[in-house]
Amino acid sequence: VFLVTMWLISRSLTPIRRLSDALAQLRDGDYSVRLARTGPPEFTQISEKLNALASTLQSVTGANQRLVQKLIHVQDEERKEIARDLHDEMGPYLFAMRAATKSLVTQAKIPQANPARIAMACELLEEHAASLQQLNRTMLNRLRPTALRELGLEEALGALVAQVRTDHPELRISFSAPESFSDVDETTALTIYRIVQEGLTNVVKHARAKHVRIVISNERDWLRIRIEDDGSGLSADQVSGLGLLGMRERLQALDGNLDLRAGASGGTILEARLPRVRAATLA
Ligand SMILES: Nc1ncnc2c1ncn2[C@@H]1O[C@H](COP(=O)(O)OP(=O)(O)OP(=O)(O)O)[C@@H](O)[C@H]1O
Ligand SMILES: [Mg+2]
Repeated sequence: VFLVTMWLISRSLTPIRRLSDALAQLRDGDYSVRLARTGPPEFTQISEKLNALASTLQSVTGANQRLVQKLIHVQDEERKEIARDLHDEMGPYLFAMRAATKSLVTQAKIPQANPARIAMACELLEEHAASLQQLNRTMLNRLRPTALRELGLEEALGALVAQVRTDHPELRISFSAPESFSDVDETTALTIYRIVQEGLTNVVKHARAKHVRIVISNERDWLRIRIEDDGSGLSADQVSGLGLLGMRERLQALDGNLDLRAGASGGTILEARLPRVRAATLA
């Protein structure tokens, strides 16, 4: 009798042992584990729930992995781009500056130096140095907006808009924002700045628009950034580049979202939303 009882107890404990093993597998990060739907009904229910949990964990982990891969890819691309800029843009200026300096040295060694030549070499040096300075500013801004750190979000956005106005006088840009919107934490500020920056860049690059309107507004629990242009609109065969992808990722990380759609009368509307609650609690 004793042996039979022991056998029965051990048999009834088998499903629990399987459940325990499956939980241990989950704990160790193996989300491929699935339990067979056999045994008593209570156990079948628990098995189903555990299977659902495992498959959710599996898909979330997969999505995370893909995101990390994309992030690494974006970083790689950014580095390549910086290397290209350093090589293609800085290289020639530096070369030309060395040539101008050499010419100055040569002139300095001649007893009857030619003042016009010296002046020309100096002017060239000055010009190239100014170009390098501009390039330096642009690259630093891309790496980390100095304006954002030094001026704060509101003025940094103002400076960004002013820069695009100067570079593209044919494009009319209007910009409006509520008074207190720039009172946010650093990550949120950088996200807002990057969205306006990429949104504007896209308008300049793709839209051939006459007018673009940037509106930042408070909408109940959300902070909304809307960039509306009157350009050519989204093409049917539009491919997602890194710009939109980057925006989506930044927003996702802050529980926000991005919407890109055709405007009512042509053009494109880009709308990003960020929870204001987070901004307020972290401010
Ligand atoms: N304002 C806009 N008007 C028209 N088309 C747009 C606009 N914004 C984006 N697009 C379309 O969406 C595509 C994807 O934009 P995205 O910013 O992701 O990539 P990109 O600008 O082509 O390249 P990248 O930003 O990586 O330098 C663009 O190639 C363009 O076709
Ligand atoms: Mg872009």
